[in-house]
Amino acid sequence: MTTATFAKGLEGIVAAETQMSFINGQKGILEYVGIAIGDLSSHSTFEETVFLLWNLRLPTKSELEAFTKSLRANYALPKGFNDRIRTLPKDAQPMHVLRTLVSELALYDTNPNANDLEAAREKSLRVLGMAPTMVAAFDRYRRGLDAVAPDTSLTFAENFMYMLNGEKPTETMARAFDICMILHADHGLNNSTFTARVIISTLSDIYSALTGAVGSLRGPLHGGANEGVMHMLNEIPSLDAVEPYIMGKIERKEKIMGFGHRVYKAKDPRATDLQKLAKQLAEDTGNSDLYAKSNAIEKIMERELAAKGIYPNVDFYSATTYHCIGLKLDLFTPMFALSRLAGWSGHILEQLDGNRLFRPTAQYVGPHDVPYTPMGDR
Ligand code: CMC
Repeated sequence: MTTATFAKGLEGIVAAETQMSFINGQKGILEYVGIAIGDLSSHSTFEETVFLLWNLRLPTKSELEAFTKSLRANYALPKGFNDRIRTLPKDAQPMHVLRTLVSELALYDTNPNANDLEAAREKSLRVLGMAPTMVAAFDRYRRGLDAVAPDTSLTFAENFMYMLNGEKPTETMARAFDICMILHADHGLNNSTFTARVIISTLSDIYSALTGAVGSLRGPLHGGANEGVMHMLNEIPSLDAVEPYIMGKIERKEKIMGFGHRVYKAKDPRATDLQKLAKQLAEDTGNSDLYAKSNAIEKIMERELAAKGIYPNVDFYSATTYHCIGLKLDLFTPMFALSRLAGWSGHILEQLDGNRLFRPTAQYVGPHDVPYTPMGDR
């Protein structure tokens, strides 16, 4: 019998082993399979990063070509799926749509429950390849437009932008998008990843695990924070209004979206990369006011809350970056999800390889020896 300890929110509890990402929260370090995140965002591509996470090593040229080819072979949706998307309510929120459609992909799989490692890889590739197509098709449908068929000559990032906008992105925009995808691909045992691992640990199916993960990610304390950041930036009318707005929130003890982290007590290294990207894109797209407001918020937060270990997290500068890329606000969190599918799937593969059911205990804090009261006496 093991000794039970209770940690609210499972803080500090090691619940799984992973070889994918390493985080040092005190020093603000993040590595994928030992490679610094900054090196990957500077030199790698999303496709190569996914290969790295799923195979725990960088690919050779031919391996990367083969992997990219098989990912692109999964861009197209199953027959009839587009018609299904066009039955959804047009005012549905894209994260609810994504969660629903990831789940529905199981209905178009002749063997949805197979989760030996080879099948799990194939299904992961399938969901990763198709998820951008589903999001883009829904977005165009709600705008009254026809879906744009995926283009298998394009990278994952280029293809998503092409399917959303109907035209190929510029090289700068496609690279910016790709960098965002790399930065969001994996991050230890975050809530949605844990959700995916918990679900697959029952030997349920990949679709169920990924559906649960999408549901977890959309929460405002997790991936939904990037949309919260944009709402905040939109609420602040000018640079001068930043100080009273943020101080008011701090005084009312309200959380400022895009700040704080369970693991990082220093600036999130992804925020450092995204800040550079946001600054450049804001200048290029005439959104310098947005960057200036973000930067002013960071300075006030540093002055007021750095002593508590509260710094910008990945969601803070990703809001400005996504806005400058031209993404609609309610596609910010789906964009995060498209990238994190890589990490969720990698963790599912790790969990299946040496699985043990997750089953923690709860500390009972209710009463005992309560007599049963008949209905008429209550
Ligand atoms: N603004 C103001 N105060 C904060 C913030 C914030 N963003 N984050 C934490 N605090 C304070 C909190 O009020 C508490 O203060 P006190 O001890 O005086 O009561 C203390 O810091 C500890 O906060 P906590 O909520 O108990 O910390 P946690 O480790 O449970 O939460 C967090 C981590 C990310 C949920 C939290 O920092 C937060 O709610 N941040 C805002 C939402 C956000 O940006 N989420 C994205 C997280 S990173 C990427 C991702 O997962 O998608």
